[in-house]
Amino acid sequence: MSDASGDGAVTEESIDPRRFRTVLGQFCTGVTIITTLADGKPVGFACQSFAALSLEPPLVLFCPTKTSRSWAAIESSGVFCVNVLAEEQQSTCARFGSREPDKFAGVDWTVSPLGSPILTGSLAHVDCSVESVHDGGDHWVVFGRVSSLSEIREERPLLFYRGQYSGIEPDKTVPAPWRDDLEAFLTTSSENTWL
Ligand SMILES: Cc1cc2nc3c(=O)[nH]c(=O)nc-3n(C[C@H](O)[C@H](O)[C@H](O)COP(=O)(O)O)c2cc1C
Repeated sequence: MSDASGDGAVTEESIDPRRFRTVLGQFCTGVTIITTLADGKPVGFACQSFAALSLEPPLVLFCPTKTSRSWAAIESSGVFCVNVLAEEQQSTCARFGSREPDKFAGVDWTVSPLGSPILTGSLAHVDCSVESVHDGGDHWVVFGRVSSLSEIREERPLLFYRGQYSGIEPDKTVPAPWRDDLEAFLTTSSENTWL
């Protein structure tokens, strides 16, 4: 392992997979379950590599590993639903993050307007069709066009941090001081913003 800068930094030729995971695990995310129906059967996987991408047109993205069976099903159906998990859905996340053959056993769900499973109890869902697929090394980067959005629920989200589940402490949640800027960032579409 090289340390060219002398500050413990690691250079590309020597990146160790465990260190890659540990360092990138410092980036805390929410967790989603991305679902579809394949030949009438519900399919889905736990996915933290999800992000809002564009407002006009309305796009999101997620990154399935190239060996994902769920991605193969989504690719063939052409549609998917992003279920944003609530804090109490840890066991759902663990089940959908495994290679369990029947991940939907005992899970309640309904069908979205585009025909993908909506998991009961999710914090939010986003109903999408596959817009385009891009190469991302050992993953695909999938752009989805948003067709419809759920209502807002006032539950807290499930978080994933350093390889563990976590949550938001209510008394540590404070409005960001740059609220107006954030609002503009999330809703303005111009040459000067990327969302
Ligand atoms: C919290 C969490 C986040 C995950 N995020 C991703 C992800 O972003 N992309 C991915 O391909 N797999 C991710 N996984 C792993 C997949 O959920 C897991 O490999 C999946 O169950 C594979 O099943 P499949 O072959 O049915 O797709 C994640 C797992 C967990 C527990």
